[in-house]
Amino acid sequence: MGKMLEDYDHLLNIDFDRSYQIPFQQAEEYITAAGRETEKLDGIWNFAPDVYDTFIRKKFFEEVYQDEQGRDKPVDCNFDQWETVRVPSNWNLQKEKYWFFEGTGVYTRRFQFWKREEGERVFLRVGAANYECRVWLNGKLLARHQGGFTPFVVEITRHLKEDNRIILTVNNERKLEQVPSVNYDWFNYGGLSRSVELIRVPGTFIKDFRIWLVPASGFGRIGILAEIAGDASGKEVTVEIPELGVTKRFLVHADGKVRGIIEAAPELWSPEQPRLYSVIATCGNDRIEEQTGFREICTEGKQVLLNGKPIFLKGVCCHEESLENGRVLTDQERLGILMEAKNMGCNIMRLSHYPHSERMAALADKVGMMLWEEIPVYWALCFSQEEVYNNAQNQLKEMIIRDFNRPSAVIWGIGNENPDTDERLEFMKKLNDCSHSIDPSRLTAAACLVNIDKMQVIDRLCQHIDVVAINEYYGWYYRDYDGLKEILDNSVLGKPLVISETGADSVQGHYGDEEELFTENHQSKMYRKQFEISDGYIAGIFPWILYDFRSPVRLNPLQDSFNRKGLIGADKKYKKMAYEVVKGFYCRG
Ligand code: GCU
Repeated sequence: MGKMLEDYDHLLNIDFDRSYQIPFQQAEEYITAAGRETEKLDGIWNFAPDVYDTFIRKKFFEEVYQDEQGRDKPVDCNFDQWETVRVPSNWNLQKEKYWFFEGTGVYTRRFQFWKREEGERVFLRVGAANYECRVWLNGKLLARHQGGFTPFVVEITRHLKEDNRIILTVNNERKLEQVPSVNYDWFNYGGLSRSVELIRVPGTFIKDFRIWLVPASGFGRIGILAEIAGDASGKEVTVEIPELGVTKRFLVHADGKVRGIIEAAPELWSPEQPRLYSVIATCGNDRIEEQTGFREICTEGKQVLLNGKPIFLKGVCCHEESLENGRVLTDQERLGILMEAKNMGCNIMRLSHYPHSERMAALADKVGMMLWEEIPVYWALCFSQEEVYNNAQNQLKEMIIRDFNRPSAVIWGIGNENPDTDERLEFMKKLNDCSHSIDPSRLTAAACLVNIDKMQVIDRLCQHIDVVAINEYYGWYYRDYDGLKEILDNSVLGKPLVISETGADSVQGHYGDEEELFTENHQSKMYRKQFEISDGYIAGIFPWILYDFRSPVRLNPLQDSFNRKGLIGADKKYKKMAYEVVKGFYCRG
């Protein structure tokens, strides 16, 4: 390329981004951080909104500040003089001018690193970056990831120096071929929403470790699956569960995998008795430890069984949102949400419509709350495109691998209100099979639309998922209630049916006739009717939603860019009349 083109590449090269479109990180590259002492890079980073992708057009990551004669150049990448933001955070809440910004945010900081052990390996873990993230370390592009709500890991061992410059770009533009696509009923918070940290491991280490109660095994067999990275030949993995008096050694197979069974009869985990056990796995001089629980979730006819007993899913849906911090919640806030649901009488929460922080499942394990976790296969997607399927499947795998050892996670949700087309059916059948093949210990579900021509639940996906779920808003989008009874009478499914969403907007403190929309009175009546009509037909119900939440699609002045279907206000304090109706139904004994 001539000097002219080289110097003006950032202006003249229409294809400037192509060489940075390296393959996306895959779930298979993930490594477990369970019980590991990670080194967080959270805190103050330099930041700039990069509206025209100047960062890569001008190759800021090269950090060329002088010309060949050593004279200063007029550059814009004097990173240390940029403004600062906290990581993790969503830029929308960092500055008024970034509220609706949809584009690339450039985050950067320096950090020092010293090797501790000969042969150690170092990985960078990003807890979540919405939506597409690229990672540069010391001027080199090392990783690219898509999907705004699941973690990814990249090895950085051989790129580390004593003084390091790390740069993460995060782009949250909504695009047709993404998962989710361009239209959804929640706020598009951009940025590094969860922690960025370093994980050090020995040369040979436990890359993945999964443990579960083997279904239909009389609650007496515990399955183990582990993967060893590095030189695994002839190695053993020792698994200890001290409170069960278990210490068992497993030989690592040539493929680095360990599969085995431990005969033991643990106390079972349940919402009432969230019994957890410390599990330690060692291999050579690597050691991981985590708290997990043992339970069985399955279906029998139209019922869901927990530990062999029918359980009615007393649910509620919830977005991951804090008014002050967007998707970045504290453990205290997460605990508050879980305890709010528990006090309302819930035994399960649907963490809508994307994987929430892994901290939510860890805390749900402790407090005793089952979870329906889901990937954002939401409304219309480009279901016919293979790369869209690969993206959705990768997000599903990242969610399952991340939370596999969380007993609270009982349902993997693979879709929400998608059109019943042939392309979508193929897409979802593959996702459903993928979930079952990775994780035979959990149920699959999808929130389906009801067919209002035939007044029936006849979504073809229902033949494949374990739990049929329907979102229906009789009393709100459809003012009468007769349709609900007709649908329930017409739908013979032979498997559990839950109402995965039902609700009505109400403005907190706005009272009136119970037929007046947006009043607390109307919202209360809607729930009374829903519980009355659905009684006996369903295996569970998930009111939409625990808290009011931000959504740009809500333009009604009473909504004011919020979806007001919360049982509690967005401030997480004001309980509406309907909250007591739901609580009364769940706690009626
Ligand atoms: C849909 C959708 C939700 C949405 C809700 C509503 O069912 O799944 O994400 O917020 O309806 O209309 O309030």
